[in-house]
Amino acid sequence: MNMAVNILAIETSCDESSVAVIQDGRVIRSNIISSQIEIHKKYGGVVPEIASRKHLEALPFVVQEALSEAEADFKDIDGIGVAYGPGLVGALLVGLSYAKAAAYAIEKPLIGVHHLEGHIHAGFLEYPDLAFPLVALVVSGGHTSLVYLPKRGAYELLGQTRDDAAGEAFDKVARHLGLGYPGGPQVQQAALQGNREKLLFPRAWLEKDSLDFSFSGLKSSVLNYLNQCKMKDEAYDIPDIAAGLQEAIGDVLATKAVVAAKKKKVPTILLAGGVAANLRLREMLQEKAGQENINVLWPSPVLCTDNAAMIGCAAYYKYLRGEFSDLTLNAVPNLSLFTS
Ligand code: KG4
Ligand code: ZN
Repeated sequence: MNMAVNILAIETSCDESSVAVIQDGRVIRSNIISSQIEIHKKYGGVVPEIASRKHLEALPFVVQEALSEAEADFKDIDGIGVAYGPGLVGALLVGLSYAKAAAYAIEKPLIGVHHLEGHIHAGFLEYPDLAFPLVALVVSGGHTSLVYLPKRGAYELLGQTRDDAAGEAFDKVARHLGLGYPGGPQVQQAALQGNREKLLFPRAWLEKDSLDFSFSGLKSSVLNYLNQCKMKDEAYDIPDIAAGLQEAIGDVLATKAVVAAKKKKVPTILLAGGVAANLRLREMLQEKAGQENINVLWPSPVLCTDNAAMIGCAAYYKYLRGEFSDLTLNAVPNLSLFTS
């Protein structure tokens, strides 16, 4: 009989201290997420120094909670998975230092995981039998990338943002609209009352055939519109602005994801990252992909935003491949997932 493999996974790359116990890469025995959002909210974004300090305070308790919810002990753990980049270096170092100490103490492998590889694996947690090849659209506060996965563990970059990430565009505009942090969920909520056809904000399609993105022009255009209204003392409608912004972001993301899937002749597009929680993006993608007989899948909301379960799933497959990390592993704030 095969013994189960239990990975204890740690994620501290931004403002969530999260620890999970994942069995065989598919069973979430626990996934504890301690969010710092309430603390960073008043600054309008994540303050790196505060994030590191809060991770340090929270992590030992989050580990205990994750083990206790999983009804497990360190002796049941076969490997320690940890996100070591990209992200805020101080924040990453807290999780990584804990992971190294734990791996050393229990004499089990340390498995460093790329944060985006984690986001993609949220899809494999939700759909363990998901087949390759596929294209993943990874959209978060720090990343907007189209990734081709010919097989497990192989990642080819097809396109990425040249400036702001999609989540960043949501967050920055939301801040100017006074909607608070993080902006994506607030924009989505406000957009429900708005008319998405009223304000047609620009879409940056870039060069023909390019699968890259650019959202800084869109962000400036929305902010210009807002400033002009204010200067002319004209009324503006926040729900309409939110709906117009969400539409412009969703349109470009969904269109390019379908072009990428067609180019690579894959039957499936996997959505990943915090922005994958956006309902209008899902709807647009499903509509555009459906016309080409391409399937679209996304993880449940709790697995879209930062969490340790996704890191544990990615770590499990690395464990099976024997891809272990050395205890000298360092945090890499701009870590790349791609070899070429
Ligand atoms: O993946 P994530 O938790 O952290 C990063 O790795 O960046 O993503 C956070 C981002 C934020 O920019 C947030 O505004 C955005 O995801 N987000 C959303 C939604 N929920 C979270 N954006 C649009 N619609 C949502 N429902
Ligand atoms: Zn993330």
